Amino acid sequence: MADLHLSGISKSFGSARAVEPLDLSVTDGAFVTLLGPSGCGKTTILRMVAGIATPDAGEIRIGGRRVDGLPPEARNVGLVFQSYALFPHMTVAQNVGFGLRMRRIARAAAAPRIAAALDLVDLGHLAARYPRELSGGQQQRVALARALVIEPDLLLLDEPLSNLDAKLRDQLREDLRALTDRLGVTTIYVTHDQSEAMALSDRILVMRAGRIVEDGAPEALYRRPRTRFTAEFLGQTNVVPVVHRAGRTILPWGEALPAVAFGVDAGHVSIRPEDIALIPTTQGQARVTARTFLGAAVEYRVVLGDSVLRVRETGSGVPLLPEVTDVTLSLRVPPHPLAEVAAVPEAADPGRPVAGSDAPESAAAE
Ligand SMILES: Nc1ncnc2c1ncn2[C@@H]1O[C@H](COP(=O)(O)OP(=O)(O)O)[C@@H](O)[C@H]1O
Ligand SMILES: [Mg+2]
Repeated sequence: MADLHLSGISKSFGSARAVEPLDLSVTDGAFVTLLGPSGCGKTTILRMVAGIATPDAGEIRIGGRRVDGLPPEARNVGLVFQSYALFPHMTVAQNVGFGLRMRRIARAAAAPRIAAALDLVDLGHLAARYPRELSGGQQQRVALARALVIEPDLLLLDEPLSNLDAKLRDQLREDLRALTDRLGVTTIYVTHDQSEAMALSDRILVMRAGRIVEDGAPEALYRRPRTRFTAEFLGQTNVVPVVHRAGRTILPWGEALPAVAFGVDAGHVSIRPEDIALIPTTQGQARVTARTFLGAAVEYRVVLGDSVLRVRETGSGVPLLPEVTDVTLSLRVPPHPLAEVAAVPEAADPGRPVAGSDAPESAAAE
């Protein structure tokens, strides 16, 4: 087990900078996720830490030991990719034992370690099978066992669940977190999937164009994003213009926000769909124009002036509002500091209408 320190790490391919000079420290035993749209440099960072790619500049330390300049096998890092990358002509046990053979560990010493690694991922009974005889989820468990068998100081996981169907993904996600907790291994996880990042991580590093733009615990980033990019990438949100009048911040529907929630004079705030309540009325300022029943929630499209808002209601037994209902809007601000509505410093052009946004697609499309 070890901590990780990157200082001034950068990487270009030709004239294109994939990773801007970057500093990052991860404490021993933490589960940290690099989250960002495709192409933002996540894989390149992992590859540099693993020793498969060479940084243009900077230092990498694992457990206090400087490792940039060392070959991958001297870094004691376990790596799992999106594609399981198993050797098709080797059995499960041989695949898992590969890293031990590379390290010239004798067969007799390797066998119990292979068995233990397979037990960790509940695949002891499939040791003699070949990869083609396994499901995708089982293959990814083999890849995980192969990364863990060397007892790595650091576990690096690059979108390891992306090729699995939804149900398997949820199961393996839970197993993965339980396993890394149990082993106490420092883990760097890479994904473009915000819900995966929030479910797994102690800490999320939001990345954009080769830079870490925000860094924090999932709950803090979701509820108090500092940037519009994070607000929109981490789930759905409404970026709403505000005006400041007599020391108060006023929302488009006239509601004043508690001053304590702001302290920033930006022109916009980010309000999550679940933080808006709809109250049916006869003389509404806004109108529900569409609704989508999602089982656990109902999502409404609400038109307010020339703006469109996305509002999500949860709770069983609450009658659905019919489409075309006049409503007034009201913020649900739970009496908890985390419920502060985040101000968005990067103000958009003032003419832009309020937009409900879909993450991660909209952010990824930039
Ligand atoms: N071997 C390579 N040669 C040239 N460009 C690369 C190479 N690897 C990555 N890139 C570029 O670097 C950027 C970051 O890529 P990558 O780290 O794979 O992003 P992510 O994992 O976040 O999708 C992208 O623009 C990608 O096209
Ligand atoms: Mg990648």
